Amino acid sequence: MKSLYLIGFMGSGKSIVGFELSKLLDVIGSDTDHMIEEENDVKIADIFRSEGERAFRKYESETLQRIPVHNHIVSTGGGIVETEENIAFMKANGTVVFLETSLDEIETRLHNDRSRPLWDKNSFEKQQLFDRRSPLYKNCADIIVQTDDRKSQDIAAEVKTQLGLKP
Ligand code: S3P
Repeated sequence: MKSLYLIGFMGSGKSIVGFELSKLLDVIGSDTDHMIEEENDVKIADIFRSEGERAFRKYESETLQRIPVHNHIVSTGGGIVETEENIAFMKANGTVVFLETSLDEIETRLHNDRSRPLWDKNSFEKQQLFDRRSPLYKNCADIIVQTDDRKSQDIAAEVKTQLGLKP
């Protein structure tokens, strides 16, 4: 199986759905954010603070490209589509799954979350980021799954069905 790349806005459930999918499909799950944090022994917010977003994007691209392009479920960070090279890599090598979530639902899920530097903004900036990124996710996706009001297991099961695999 070609690797699956889970993309979507912050709070769309890429990590938890990736975990469910790796169990369901019995393949290895990888998470670019976790890998960056573990390998550098630093929190992402600290990378943004000390080295800036550009440096983080470099770690992110390097990490993405190191993960095998077969038999992996790859949970990405919400900004993976900010780098064209990442989009080209995912489209060329795997199946891209967009977890589509409304901004209202994200607001509910990330209420009080201060760990994400790009979420720690005012409402207008968050709306702008959401609006700018939404078409990037859609254009990149082979499969789109709605996540509002749904459990991660159901979402993972729908991804499996949309891949043409028996439930
Ligand atoms: C980011 C999303 C985060 C993390 C970093 C930047 C973004 O991941 O990669 O804070 O640019 O949207 P999640 O999508 O898992 O929150």
